[in-house]
Amino acid sequence: MASARGKVIFFGEHAVVYGHPALAGAISRQVAITVAESTEGEGVRLDIPCWEVRAAAGDGSAVGGALAAMTAAAGITAPVHLLGEADLPAAVGLGSSAALSVAVARALLPDAGGAAIEDVAMAGERAFHDNPSGIDVVMAARGGLGLFRRGAGLAAVDAPPVRLCIALSGESRQTAKMVAAVRARREAMPQKIDGELLTLGELAAAGAKACARGDVAAVGEMMDRAHAGLCAIGVSTDTLDALVTLARDAGALGAKLTGGGGGGAVIALAPGREDAVLGAWREAGFSAFACEAG
Ligand code: MEV
Repeated sequence: MASARGKVIFFGEHAVVYGHPALAGAISRQVAITVAESTEGEGVRLDIPCWEVRAAAGDGSAVGGALAAMTAAAGITAPVHLLGEADLPAAVGLGSSAALSVAVARALLPDAGGAAIEDVAMAGERAFHDNPSGIDVVMAARGGLGLFRRGAGLAAVDAPPVRLCIALSGESRQTAKMVAAVRARREAMPQKIDGELLTLGELAAAGAKACARGDVAAVGEMMDRAHAGLCAIGVSTDTLDALVTLARDAGALGAKLTGGGGGGAVIALAPGREDAVLGAWREAGFSAFACEAG
């Protein structure tokens, strides 16, 4: 069985697409893939019942496109039937497509080294997303807590895992659409959006230092500022804002949307107040859980 973990972005989503740093941590939720029996002529197939995924390479679906790209990059020509299971929710900004791509790459190439796995997984991630920065694939493949910059790669941050509360907004969304929306806003208002992206990247660099010195109050305060910046570039929603407010009112040190936005997940840092935050979200009808990132 091959597996890979999801991730949360603490700071720097969207900014990272434009070369700014982002701080991310792998979470203890994952996708696992096994290679099942395959018969001649059936091509490359992938079933993940819990995500309602039933795809074949090149079948016109997003997963089928990623499968075709990955099998081509891995040089696989024989029929393969892959079976997946996951405790990571899909398409909520927690890195499910990258975790899937890395787990599939590991299943297709069990003897390959880390660089080859990331190359094959990036072929899948490019098929899923519009201009991916690569942060999700690197986190899924390497784990830990790290500061990522496009081109420079991942610098590990020496800090213990951070316990977070995570809520799911329940809104359907796609990272590719949100990346395209930010690009369109940047073209329309280059100065404003570039200024916000710069600040979001600066928060990532400062957040890495705050995590390394264990300054949770500073990390929480920066999360609030990052959420404001993400609102300013237009990737939050009323529901995500409401989840952030619920968390802060329940005593979180900070809260923000994580990942591409437009729906998906909110993270809250709430040491000693986790039950209160999770309870507030659940009482309002949202699904929520606590986990470690890093
Ligand atoms: C998605 O997890 C993070 C984004 O910055 C897109 C990317 O980095 O490719 C929104």
